[in-house]
Amino acid sequence: MRFSSDFANILTENEPLGPRTWFGLGGPARWMARPTGLTQLMELFRRCQQEEVPVYKLGQGANLLVNDDGVDGVVVQLNAPAFRGVDWNADARDPDIVRVSAGGGMDMNRLAREAVRRGFAGLECMGGIPGTLGGIIRMNAGGRFGQIADVVRAVTVVNAAGQLRTLTHEQVGFRYRHTDLGETIVCRATLELKREDPTRLRERFLEIWDYKRKSQPLADYSAGCVFKNPPNESAGGLIDRAGLKGCTVGGASVSTNHANFIVAKEGSTSRDVLSLIGLVRRKVAERFGVELELEIEIWNRRRAKKTLIRTEPRP
Ligand code: EPU
Repeated sequence: MRFSSDFANILTENEPLGPRTWFGLGGPARWMARPTGLTQLMELFRRCQQEEVPVYKLGQGANLLVNDDGVDGVVVQLNAPAFRGVDWNADARDPDIVRVSAGGGMDMNRLAREAVRRGFAGLECMGGIPGTLGGIIRMNAGGRFGQIADVVRAVTVVNAAGQLRTLTHEQVGFRYRHTDLGETIVCRATLELKREDPTRLRERFLEIWDYKRKSQPLADYSAGCVFKNPPNESAGGLIDRAGLKGCTVGGASVSTNHANFIVAKEGSTSRDVLSLIGLVRRKVAERFGVELELEIEIWNRRRAKKTLIRTEPRP
């Protein structure tokens, strides 16, 4: 049986990806899959590996640039209720600790707000960072106020072979804006939060939000910080000092508010953003001898196995 008909109830074909990313750019997905539960997700991954269909994992598209031709594979999104549930479990021995078990498709800001409302500290540092919990964990998102690794105790993933695995904090391999999660998809995670005075917590949460609102172009089409900070340096600072604020290619510009953001105007293309990324990298390398490393993820077109590309039924 053909791949697409086997998963017909959860697949759509040729779905535009631009509207699903914060840049608002990029071509369509050959297939988009929204599994309704774990068993289906495991089966989908197993079949994709068996039939060499490239798999792309989409959260909220907040840190992602899709190329203009789209992707020839399956884009998997865990937005079904089965992947968005949250359980708050008090620690049996320590009443000041709560273990939160949350689905990989859960919205990070909703989860952070709820933790603050309940008076549990540890997620307020994620205020204003968009994404699903799974996407946030996979890139160890964070900022000057903390990173998700600080509270993650365990992560349950489905690997490329379709097997379910639970990884400890150490096995996730958290580093600065990076983990070893590779080809896996995060289905669920256990976070450890600590009780704190809700009023103080709320104030801190609002302060973090306020700082972001003032220092970053949150209202524009962008994917957050484009580059990682080099050791002991600020990527935004380097780009700024290279005189690149406002530098434009087509419809894409280096933000005049925060130089590590590229903002895309209506009518721009992914190619514009990619050219501007190349230009910024060259200028910063020429000026300061620093090779900027990408923080955002870029999806290029990889080809699915030829036999799977046909949509018409066999003659
Ligand atoms: N700076 C400039 N010009 C600019 C931007 C920044 O000179 O255009 C200077 C600032 O004055 C400051 C320094 O660079 O002295 C650092 O700037 P900022 O405090 O804004 O922090 P950042 O290092 O640029 C990091 C994260 C952000 C996160 C903020 C605040 C990285 C690459 N960036 O930015 O994360 O929001 O701290 O918590 O780790 C993201 O990951 O998408 C992201 C935006």
